[in-house]
Amino acid sequence: MSAGTPPPSHDIPAGLLDALRQAGRVVFLTGSGVSAESGVPTFRDELTGLWARYSPEELATPEAFQRDPALVWGWYRERRRHVAAAQPNGAHHAIARLQARIPGAVLITQNVDGLHQRAGSREVIEFHGNLFRNRCRDCGHETVHSDPELEAPPACPRCGQRMGPGVVWFGEAIPPEALRMAWRHAMAAKVFFSIGTSGLVSPAAQLVELARGSGALIVEVNTAPTPLSACADYVLHGPAGVLLPLLAERFGA
Ligand code: OAD
Repeated sequence: MSAGTPPPSHDIPAGLLDALRQAGRVVFLTGSGVSAESGVPTFRDELTGLWARYSPEELATPEAFQRDPALVWGWYRERRRHVAAAQPNGAHHAIARLQARIPGAVLITQNVDGLHQRAGSREVIEFHGNLFRNRCRDCGHETVHSDPELEAPPACPRCGQRMGPGVVWFGEAIPPEALRMAWRHAMAAKVFFSIGTSGLVSPAAQLVELARGSGALIVEVNTAPTPLSACADYVLHGPAGVLLPLLAERFGA
């Protein structure tokens, strides 16, 4: 299978399995495509439901929250409800199994839905935060979001200011520890998977470049071509919920 060329059928190249067996240091970078088969809409595919009325770029900003906290909070409440009712799919479970089989495997996710953790992944570097936490933009304090029906943003228990969802908004910095860890693992990776992400949002997209520059084998899993496809060593073209369980099975995980 050459770079950028969809395989004739869903199968896993033997060369990839060999590389994976020898790699030790494996990084899985996931994006919203991994949760698509759980019914959680992606960011840039066709918009449905609430996503159709408001684009994330309109509401997922500190300015939008300052301008209309009730609207932004309500939008996130809807997203939490939607995600809480969703179940992890075969891709989440397969990644958790592969992580359990490969001691040096690391999972970095751009997703805020917590589905990897619910599938059993223990160590997850959350690049864009988590829907089920709250964060105070004034003092940085974080809390677990324990009341799913909370109508209005809660007050920060530390400084009394209004708390927002614990996700990274457009224009905000990646949590420093997540960034540091992700950078370190990307540079050390021998095999780097980019799964279900359009690769359009930095700095997450730069992790692939970093890994490639450090000599990692790059594997893309996606239903559609992305800017990465042309330079990936392997492109597994198809749904992550089909391809990753197949990969895990062939690997013996
Ligand atoms: P995008 O919506 O940009 O990309 C989703 C990708 O998943 C696309 O390349 C699809 O082709 C692919 N895809 C869809 N269904 C799939 C499936 N079943 N199996 C495999 N691939 C599938 O979402 P992200 O790349 O995650 O940031 O977006 C990255 C970041 O941009 C998000 O974390 C968010 C957004 O703005 C913040 O909220 C800060």
